[in-house]
Amino acid sequence: MLWLRVAFLAGLGEALAITKSRSLISLEGCLKRLPHGQSVGSVANVTITSGGLLRYFLISIPPTYHAEAPTPAILSYHGGVRTAEDQLQLDQMTNPEFNTNSFVIYPQGVNNTWQGVPNITINDVQFTTDILNHVQSQYCIDSARIFATGKSDGAGFCNVLACDPVMSHRIAAFAPVSGAFYIDTLPCAPNDVPIPCHSSRNNIPFLEFHGGNDSTIKYQGGERKKECLPSIPHFIQQWAVRDRLGLHNVTTQISSNTVSYKFGTGVNFGLVEHVYDAVIGHDWPSTAPNADNQVVGHHLASFNATPIILDFFKQHPLSFWDIISEI
Ligand SMILES: *[C@@H]1O[C@H](CO)[C@@H](O)[C@H](O)[C@H]1NC(C)=O
Ligand SMILES: *[C@@H]1O[C@H](CO)[C@@H](O)[C@H](O)[C@H]1NC(C)=O
Ligand SMILES: *[C@@H]1O[C@H](CO)[C@@H](O)[C@H](O)[C@H]1NC(C)=O
Ligand SMILES: *[C@@H]1O[C@H](CO)[C@@H](O)[C@H](O)[C@H]1NC(C)=O
Ligand SMILES: *[C@@H]1O[C@H](CO)[C@@H](O)[C@H](O)[C@H]1NC(C)=O
Repeated sequence: MLWLRVAFLAGLGEALAITKSRSLISLEGCLKRLPHGQSVGSVANVTITSGGLLRYFLISIPPTYHAEAPTPAILSYHGGVRTAEDQLQLDQMTNPEFNTNSFVIYPQGVNNTWQGVPNITINDVQFTTDILNHVQSQYCIDSARIFATGKSDGAGFCNVLACDPVMSHRIAAFAPVSGAFYIDTLPCAPNDVPIPCHSSRNNIPFLEFHGGNDSTIKYQGGERKKECLPSIPHFIQQWAVRDRLGLHNVTTQISSNTVSYKFGTGVNFGLVEHVYDAVIGHDWPSTAPNADNQVVGHHLASFNATPIILDFFKQHPLSFWDIISEI
């Protein structure tokens, strides 16, 4: 089956003369041995040049990896003042209890932060492009199943990617946690500030988590670092509008203090979703202790965000039409 799939996609690739630079259906890394010193079920530390800088990322190679099977890949961006190593501990995406079949890639931000944060001039969209080109040349990656998640500034950067004309077509789905979605405009009207976005698809799967007691990136938004943070309801509603889902949502209680708001109907039901926990702070929601919820004044969440994110990604690969329309 896997061989058939590879053969089919490779044939399709030739038939449609896919350009190498986009590598949307790239199988270049398939059937290759792992780079020297790397093994399945372990984490490798890779340095590349991007924008004239030496940059690194960690890549977790899933225990089930086989070089003939196109494998999903998740990009996970750390929060501000944190590192790739911290994010690997925080998101638990490499914990076999949650994930045994996807690569997880942890990029490291210059000065521990990301493009999109006020006055950051580093090109992290380019860095992400360079990472994807690199990993797709080295490992057998399913180009319909590349996803992005992240925390805080890293979550804000997920939105930068979702609003980028090229990356919104290369990354299938986005799941930011406690995101800082800065907009360079003042004065700040958090409930109706226009949100610039240049995505090239109008069916972008987008799942955001936010705590009602977040004192860093406040749920109701407002001015921060001389820019404007939208309120989270306004921000997520604008994704629903961009995806042409309308403003109506289905509200479901998922655990104590926590509701999910799903937008869309029919096959698009839940394409945009927001999970709101009224009592947690600026945290990666987890029922187990982590670096966020052990801070004084913070506490365990009543649910785990990680399996919800993984399930959302599983349900939202790029469709055949998303891929063809880009070619
Ligand atoms: C990965 O490599 C970078 C750059 O050499 C280094 O700063 C970082 O500590 C390394 N991380 C791990 C987990 O090895
Ligand atoms: C990183 O931070 C230092 C200290 O604030 C600053 O001097 C340097 O310019 C920053 N690097 C980049 C690439 O922005
Ligand atoms: C960003 O740069 C502008 C122009 O140099 C400056 O006025 C502003 O204070 C800076 N913002 C922050 C948050 O440092
Ligand atoms: C979802 O719908 C309910 C009921 O109309 C509304 O109170 C709530 O604000 C909506 N949530 C979002 C995020 O739009
Ligand atoms: C909200 O956060 C503050 C400060 O972090 C903390 O003191 C308070 O107990 C928190 N409230 C709840 C309901 O957790």
